[in-house]
Amino acid sequence: METSFSMNGGDGPNSYTQNSKIQKEGNDQAKASLSNSIQEKLIIQNHSSAEKPQVFSIADLGCSVGPNTFACVNTIIEAVRLKFQTHGSESILPEFHVFFNDHVANDFNTLFRSLPLNREYMAAGVPGSFCGRLFPKASMNLMHSAFALHWLTKIPEELTDKESPAWNKGRITYVGSSNDVIEAYTAQFLRDMEDFFTARTVELVNNGLLAILILCRPEGTKPSESTIMQGFDRLGHAFTEMAKEGLLSEALVDSFNLPIFIPNASEVKKVVSSIQHLSIEKLEEIYYPTKIVTHEDARVSSLHIRAAMEGLIRQHFGNKIIDEIFKRFIRKLHEFSKTPRHLQDGILFLLVKCNAIP
Ligand SMILES: C[S@@+](CC[C@H](N)C(=O)[O-])C[C@H]1O[C@@H](n2cnc3c(N)ncnc32)[C@H](O)[C@@H]1O
Repeated sequence: METSFSMNGGDGPNSYTQNSKIQKEGNDQAKASLSNSIQEKLIIQNHSSAEKPQVFSIADLGCSVGPNTFACVNTIIEAVRLKFQTHGSESILPEFHVFFNDHVANDFNTLFRSLPLNREYMAAGVPGSFCGRLFPKASMNLMHSAFALHWLTKIPEELTDKESPAWNKGRITYVGSSNDVIEAYTAQFLRDMEDFFTARTVELVNNGLLAILILCRPEGTKPSESTIMQGFDRLGHAFTEMAKEGLLSEALVDSFNLPIFIPNASEVKKVVSSIQHLSIEKLEEIYYPTKIVTHEDARVSSLHIRAAMEGLIRQHFGNKIIDEIFKRFIRKLHEFSKTPRHLQDGILFLLVKCNAIP
């Protein structure tokens, strides 16, 4: 069964709205790549007339509650406009229709309430997993997804099966786990990516573009060497510490696994290249250092991780342990920041073109 979860809604102190500046920095760093690659690669097919302007449909997949999604959409619209203008189609600019997609559990009310008042597009929400079809055939001109594709749709069943060699006892990630666990995580990631890209080949128009921003570990490293994943793993240390102190059941820790996988560029490239009708037009690895030095940095990072993972943890462990677990996590993250790390994870920007299914 697919995992359904959401980032913390609303705009309170633990919300994603208030705790997504790390993702904002990543989106800002990739802004030039997004804008330039659209201007370079978008093929204008203008069927507009003054009476009937063309509709240019954009989707942000895994948009969460904002505000980063709005900034990305603005970058995309500015780049498309500029492309139309340089193409000599200024007088017949298209109308923009923007679809904000996320899981059904996403706080779409907060998203809609914070839509920019001066926006120059029509907005709609599209609930559901982006690993399946979301839009009609050949209806989308440009799709975008940032900081979302590392979330798996489900935890492979063998990770919680005591009889399986891939039983992930005492761990919540694949860091420090057996090869069987790592293989199960990798296989789930590749399946999800295949489903994601296959759905897009149906939904995109001919020459439609798909821009992806995804966390990635350096080339040549093993999945468990991802520095971001190692940071997440410290949350597992907090769980096992509490289990040892008798504050929560060991069985509950054994049956909890984070549905996250951080790929490298080759793994992503391999999936995209295996899918008919898609071609990679741009692939850039962007330096994106984790900046945890002080206890305050660890506190801020833990708030970001809490905004993303609190819902999942609450579902599995209940309400009582939440504050305590994240209090301990700050200390664990700070300790982790002092361990020497040679290679840091980054982000991967990818622009894919669709030669639509006839
Ligand atoms: C970390 S947030 C990123 C939000 C925004 N794109 C940004 O850059 O700040 C990741 C979002 O992806 C969504 N997501 C993850 N897997 C998804 C799936 N299979 N289908 C739809 N949304 C998904 C999550 O619910 C979450 O809101």
